[in-house]
Amino acid sequence: MANQPISTRIVLASRPSGKPVAANFRLEREAVRDLAEGEVLLQILYLSLDPYMRGRMDDAKSYAKPVEVGGVMEGGTVARVVSSRDAAFAPGDIVLSHSGWQSHAISDAAALRKLDPEAAPITTALGVLGMPGFTAYAGLRNIGKPKAGETLVVAAASGAVGSAVGQIAKIFGARAVGIAGGADKCDYIRNEFGFDAAIDHRSSDFASQLAAACPNGIDIYFENVGGHVWNAVFPLLNDFARVPVCGLIAHYNEGSSTSEGHNQLPTVMRAVLRQSLTIRGFIQREFVDQRPDFYREAAKWISEGRLKYREDIVDGLENAPEAFIGLLEGKNFGKLIVRIAS
Ligand SMILES: NC(=O)c1ccc[n+]([C@@H]2O[C@H](COP(=O)([O-])OP(=O)(O)OC[C@H]3O[C@@H](n4cnc5c(N)ncnc54)[C@H](OP(=O)(O)O)[C@@H]3O)[C@@H](O)[C@H]2O)c1
Repeated sequence: MANQPISTRIVLASRPSGKPVAANFRLEREAVRDLAEGEVLLQILYLSLDPYMRGRMDDAKSYAKPVEVGGVMEGGTVARVVSSRDAAFAPGDIVLSHSGWQSHAISDAAALRKLDPEAAPITTALGVLGMPGFTAYAGLRNIGKPKAGETLVVAAASGAVGSAVGQIAKIFGARAVGIAGGADKCDYIRNEFGFDAAIDHRSSDFASQLAAACPNGIDIYFENVGGHVWNAVFPLLNDFARVPVCGLIAHYNEGSSTSEGHNQLPTVMRAVLRQSLTIRGFIQREFVDQRPDFYREAAKWISEGRLKYREDIVDGLENAPEAFIGLLEGKNFGKLIVRIAS
C-alpha cells in the first residue's frame, strides 16, 4: 500500500423519499489498494452530474442497477492517469472513465477512453461531445428525424441534452422552440444557441405562449421533462408527430408512486391512434454503434460554430450533493460538472 493515495468519496448514506437531501449523502475517505495487472490508478479531475443519478438512488426496477446504500455514487468522470499496469496507458494520460463521485479510483484499462486535450476542452467529453450530446444526436437521428420546415419543441433547453437537441434540429432545417425556466435561460437559448423562440415554463400563461410560438403545431417533441410541459405540448402535436421520450425529470422524485389523479391514458392513446403519433422511449446506449458518426459530426459542427455549449462548473467534490439537488430543481445553467482537481 506504500505511496497509494487516500480517495475521498461520496457514498449513498440512505435512499431518499421524494427530493434528495444532504443527509442522503456521506463523505468518506479510504486508502486506495494496489493495482492488479490490467488496471490503472486515476486521479479524477471532473465529475459529471446528471439527472439519471436520481434513479440510481432508488431501489426500484430500472434499466440499470441502483447504487447500494454505502456505495460510491455513480457518475461519468474525466481523469488523469497516476500509474498504470496496462501498456495502453501511461502516467499523465487524460481519460474518460466512469469512476463516480470520488477523488481517486482504480479502473480496468479496457473501460477507459483516452482523450486528446488538444482536440477539445476535456470537460466536453462529459457534455456536448459526451453522453448528453450523443443522447440528443441519437434521439433525433433515430426517432425525431427533423426535416426542413418542421417545428421541434424541447424543454430543459439550456441544459446539456436540450441545448444540443435544438441546435442539431436547426442544422437539419427545422424550427426550434425551446422551453426553459426563467428569463435568463430563455434569453440565452435564443441569443447564444439560436433557438427561434424561447418560452419560460414558469410563466402563468405558459401554455398559451407555447401555442403562439408554434402556429403550425409541433412535429417533433423531444421529451425531457414530462409534467406540465407535456400537458401544454400534447394538444399541439400534429398528425405524424414524433416524440422521442428521453427523460421525465419532473417525475424523478416521485419514485414508483403514481401521483397522476386523472387517468390520461385513454386520451393519449386515442391521439396516438387518430394522429398516427410515434411516441418512442430510448436509452442512448441502445445506439452505441452510432457513436463514431456522432464524434465526427459533432466535432465538425462545433468547429463551424453551429453547435455551441455552456458548462456550469462547481468547485469541490464536497459540493456535489448540493449541486445535484439543485439540478433537479433547475438551478444549474448548462451542463453541470464538478471540478475535483486540476
Ligand atoms: N434517455 C437517455 O439515454 C438520456 C440520457 C441523458 C439524459 N437524459 C434525460 O434528458 C433530460 C435532460 O438531461 P440533462 O443532462 O440535459 O439535464 P439538464 O437539462 O442539464 O438539467 C436538468 C434541467 O431540467 C429542468 N427541469 C428540472 N425539473 C423540471 C421540471 N419539473 N419541469 C421542467 N423542467 C425541469 C431544469 O431546467 P429549467 O430550469 O430550464 O427548467 C434543469 O436545469 C433528463 O430528463 C435526463 O434524465 C436521458
